[in-house]
Amino acid sequence: MLNLKNLQKSFGDIQILRDLSFALESGSSASIRGASGSGKSTLLSLIAGFELPDDGTIHIDDVTLPFTSDKAADAFRRDHLGVVFQSFNLLDCLNVWDNIAFTARLKGNHDKDFQRTLMNDMAIAHLSEKLPQQLSGGEQQRVAIARALVHKPSLVLADEPTGNLDEETSEQVANTLFAQCQTLNTTLIVVTHSHEVAEKADVPLWLRHGQLYVKQHREQQRPSQTHAEQKSLER
Ligand SMILES: Nc1ncnc2c1ncn2[C@@H]1O[C@H](COP(=O)(O)OP(=O)(O)OP(=O)(O)O)[C@@H](O)[C@H]1O
Ligand SMILES: [Mg+2]
Repeated sequence: MLNLKNLQKSFGDIQILRDLSFALESGSSASIRGASGSGKSTLLSLIAGFELPDDGTIHIDDVTLPFTSDKAADAFRRDHLGVVFQSFNLLDCLNVWDNIAFTARLKGNHDKDFQRTLMNDMAIAHLSEKLPQQLSGGEQQRVAIARALVHKPSLVLADEPTGNLDEETSEQVANTLFAQCQTLNTTLIVVTHSHEVAEKADVPLWLRHGQLYVKQHREQQRPSQTHAEQKSLER
């Protein structure tokens, strides 16, 4: 279970997140849409522990953030977390195969067949030997998604994972991301501007004025605590 309680985050005088609470059952998926600058990437950074909230708590299964040390943070991310950064963050000096394998090798669970499957599904199998700077933005994005999944994490945070892809590739890549997370029982949070991608999630949400809502506009309804409650609300 991912549980965010009363999160507050400001940069200087500007309040980005205001008393934001949300819970997501393990193995479920949520999508977050919202205006540019509304705080979507900031929220993912807090969940990954890259940034600290000013107030509030974050629980990921039995782990409570902030991490007790940098070592604990590194170990958690290596073993449990897959992150697709908005700016990809591939390692320039490693080829595609080694970029994807990196975390799985650190974790000690590198499953080469699974990596090949992911690369085939992402249509990047032919790029194994290439360096990141030899790839298009969309190709780098697909490498970043494969890298976030290959070590079979329990939580994936994906920041606009299809932002650089054409419609058809976006559909295929998003399907792979959601399907693999379902197979692995991985909790997934996807930030996206795409309606098609967002609506694949169990819990589609909007971030507005520092809080998460289940409706886009006026009928602003805060998300209920669990996906089950969410489903019963929709009935
Ligand atoms: N480290 C930082 N220091 C100061 N301000 C920041 C920092 N990080 C983000 N911000 C500001 O916080 C606001 C939210 O940024 P964030 O990147 O979370 O938005 P976003 O919803 O992800 O936008 P986009 O859709 O453009 O990616 C922005 O106004 C941004 O300028
Ligand atoms: Mg962003």
